[in-house]
Amino acid sequence: MDDFILLKRFIEQTLGIQCSNYKEDYIKRRLLSRMRSTNNESYTDYLKYLKANTPELEKLRNALTINVTEFFRDNDVYELMKKEIFPALFRQRKRLRIWCAGCSTGEEPYSIAMILSDLIAHNPSFSAQIFATDIDKVVLAKAQEGIYSQKAMIKLSETQIHRHFIKLPDGNFQAKPSLKELIRFRPHDLMSGVPVSQWLDLITCRNVTIYFNEKQKDELAKMFHGALVSGGFYIMGKTEYLGRSLENLFSTYNSIQKTFVKKD
Ligand SMILES: C[S@@+](CC[C@H](N)C(=O)[O-])C[C@H]1O[C@@H](n2cnc3c(N)ncnc32)[C@H](O)[C@@H]1O
Repeated sequence: MDDFILLKRFIEQTLGIQCSNYKEDYIKRRLLSRMRSTNNESYTDYLKYLKANTPELEKLRNALTINVTEFFRDNDVYELMKKEIFPALFRQRKRLRIWCAGCSTGEEPYSIAMILSDLIAHNPSFSAQIFATDIDKVVLAKAQEGIYSQKAMIKLSETQIHRHFIKLPDGNFQAKPSLKELIRFRPHDLMSGVPVSQWLDLITCRNVTIYFNEKQKDELAKMFHGALVSGGFYIMGKTEYLGRSLENLFSTYNSIQKTFVKKD
């Protein structure tokens, strides 16, 4: 059997990552980068290396599910949520249900939670529940812990830090229970075809589909469409786009911020 296929099969069995769901080019690029770092010249050599070096498995997982994220990444979209999307949704119902899909180490759901917490403080009859999911259980554990270095907090104002985080003796910051209680973290594979919940008012899935092939992207958008309430919002990452065939499912709310509204 082809050495690349053998390597993919091993990855699927040991890491639970379905390589066939990703663009082949993408998988090859990530593998080549790990192979270079470990001085392995062929897929066969790298497979042998992987089997003999357990720590390399985690390094490969990280390379395949790149977890880069930050608080208020592309801040304009958070301004849109704060000034337009959440006020519009709260005019329709008092309890909002949000799914932050592909949340990595948690900066995205905590950013959304900070905005919601401030809105709820002004109107205590409002409430919200954020489902934050990721395929990678390692980053998810970090998200759940909610501990961030001072460097990671750079985009937060003093007020936000003071209101939503506790400074730990080692200089790191931990999200307060009042912020954490807005979020439920869960492992979830976006390729599973099953949404984490139904009747959602907003789904953010940002900087995740760049790793998916066209068919997977379309199926994902269809799954999100089914999980949203009528008029619910879907926000993608700045460099992502919605396939043409989905124009009957979503209308564009803000093309620059890649924000769409579910059509019935
Ligand atoms: C670049 S991070 C994006 C984090 C955050 N959404 C943001 O925009 O800052 C991409 C995340 O998608 C996750 N991911 C990749 N494939 C996934 C899948 N099939 N199901 C769920 N999460 C996935 C990765 O584990 C990673 O944490």
